[in-house]
Amino acid sequence: LPQPLLAGKTVMITAGPTREEIDPVRYISNHSSGKMGYAIAQAAQSMGAKVILVSGPTNLVIPHGVTTIQVTSAVQMHQQVMEQIKHCDVFVGCAAVADYRPLQSNSQKIKKSEQELTLTFIKNPDILSDVAHLSQAPFTLGFAAETQNIREYALAKLNAKKLNMIAANDVSDSSIGFNSEQNALSVFWPQGEKILAMTDKKQLAQQLMQLVAEQLKS
Ligand code: C5P
Repeated sequence: LPQPLLAGKTVMITAGPTREEIDPVRYISNHSSGKMGYAIAQAAQSMGAKVILVSGPTNLVIPHGVTTIQVTSAVQMHQQVMEQIKHCDVFVGCAAVADYRPLQSNSQKIKKSEQELTLTFIKNPDILSDVAHLSQAPFTLGFAAETQNIREYALAKLNAKKLNMIAANDVSDSSIGFNSEQNALSVFWPQGEKILAMTDKKQLAQQLMQLVAEQLKS
C-alpha cells in the first residue's frame, strides 16, 4: 500500500477569528467562521499527518483525532504557536487574526457618558510572518483575502512574509469566503501557481493540502 501523502509530518493550523478585549464585557472581532481552517485540519489528518489546531472562538466541532488548543486573543494565539512550532513540518495560517488590539484592556466596564469615546489600538504580532522568519522555519502557507489585483497582492505577500505558498481568495464575491460553505482559491508558490475552482471547503482543503504535500517533497 502507498504511504499517505503526509505520513510522519506534523502540521499546525491556525483557524477562526481572534477576540480583542476592550473591557470585561466587550471585545472587537471579525466574521471568520473557522470553517476553512477546520477543513484543512481534517484534510491534513486524513492524509496521515499529526495535526495541531490552534483555534480562536468558533461554533465548530473539534475534528476527531486533532490536537486542538483553544485561544481567544491574537497575543494568546501567537504565544501558543511559538511554543509548539519547533516540532512542526508545515504551518498553515488560516486564522483571521485581528490586526490591532486595544492599547489598554480596562479591568472595569467602561461606563457610558454624554462624551464621545476614543479607543487607541496597537498592532498585534503577525503570527504567520514570525513563523516564516524562524531560522528553522517549517513549510509555511498563508492566506490572502483580496478584492482586486489578487495575483499581484498575493505575490507581494508571499515575498514580504517569506512564505512557501499563499492561497488567495476574492472576498468581493459573496458566494465564497467568510461563513460560506464554498470557496475558491488562487494558489501561488515561487515556481508555480494553480487555480482551485469553487467547491465546498472540505474538497478545497484536500486539494490545497495535496499541493502542499507535492511542494514539501520537491
Ligand atoms: O497581512 P494579511 O493580514 O493580509 O495576511 C493574511 C495572512 O496572515 C493569513 O494567513 C493570516 O492567518 C496571517 N496573519 C497572522 N497574524 C496576523 C495577521 C495575519 O498570522 N497578525
